[in-house]
Amino acid sequence: MDYQAVLEEVAAQVRPQIGCGQVAQYIPALASVAPEQFGMAVVDVEGGVHGVGDWEVPFSVQSISKTFTLALVLARDGEKIWQRVGREPSGNPFNSLVQLEYEHGIPRNPFINAGALVITDRLQSLTGDASSTLLEFLRTESGNPDLGFNPAVAASETDNGDRNAALAHFMAAYDNLENLVPSVLEHYFWQCSVEMSCRDLALAGRFLARHGLRADGSRLLARSEAKQVNAVMLTCGTYDAAGDFAYRVGLPGKSGVGGGIIAVIPGRCTLCVWSPGLDERGNSVAGVAALDRFTTLTGLSVF
Ligand code: DON
Repeated sequence: MDYQAVLEEVAAQVRPQIGCGQVAQYIPALASVAPEQFGMAVVDVEGGVHGVGDWEVPFSVQSISKTFTLALVLARDGEKIWQRVGREPSGNPFNSLVQLEYEHGIPRNPFINAGALVITDRLQSLTGDASSTLLEFLRTESGNPDLGFNPAVAASETDNGDRNAALAHFMAAYDNLENLVPSVLEHYFWQCSVEMSCRDLALAGRFLARHGLRADGSRLLARSEAKQVNAVMLTCGTYDAAGDFAYRVGLPGKSGVGGGIIAVIPGRCTLCVWSPGLDERGNSVAGVAALDRFTTLTGLSVF
């Protein structure tokens, strides 16, 4: 497969959609990002790296971080986490509060904000420093020691974090947090603020295409655990648009409101696409279109 030629064709086909949608407004530090940007990377399981457009420009990973924190918790703690968080699609926006009350403080899945807070809480208990553990993992897997947090984005999320604080306090009331709410929120906001390029993210997510094997060949996840993370990405990774994403793209994927999306073709490659303009569900307009084009042009999907 000539991935480079495919990426160039995809970039040409989605050009009309670049700049469409709205850059995330509710985190002021993200609202100033220029919308007319687009990059896409493919890293295959043998280590080949391909990219097009702004694929080496760092952006805010936001909720894409939730894929990695879930993997880090599963790697340390196995199945136990599923007693505290479900794995069904929520059909609700990522920051919704309503379902939590009906379901007694157990979030529907690890990728909505409530579920991600539970995962960060567990990673904090297991490591003593959830956000640094994540950053260290991302640096090692991407081979980029310069990756870092963006303090302005973390501060902006903290200043505008009332919904996340409400979710965390609500779960604490149901005894579904082990650490104090301010500490869980702090690590969650830092993890969302990490800045990475498409290249960095595709490299860091390569273990999902390699059935759990890390860049150095050691095992992060058992083969069945890597399957589990990919399955939850497919069903829950793009929130209340997960059905439409599966229909159009046909791959496990995880989006973030920074405009990035990672996607996995197990056994073959990890992709990352970025374009800041979002649709009303918080997924990149040009990003989803590019992944749709990629699987259509190549015939590569999990279906
Ligand atoms: O908690 C938040 O609202 C953000 N830090 C992350 C949200 C996000 O990326 C949702 N994804 N599409």
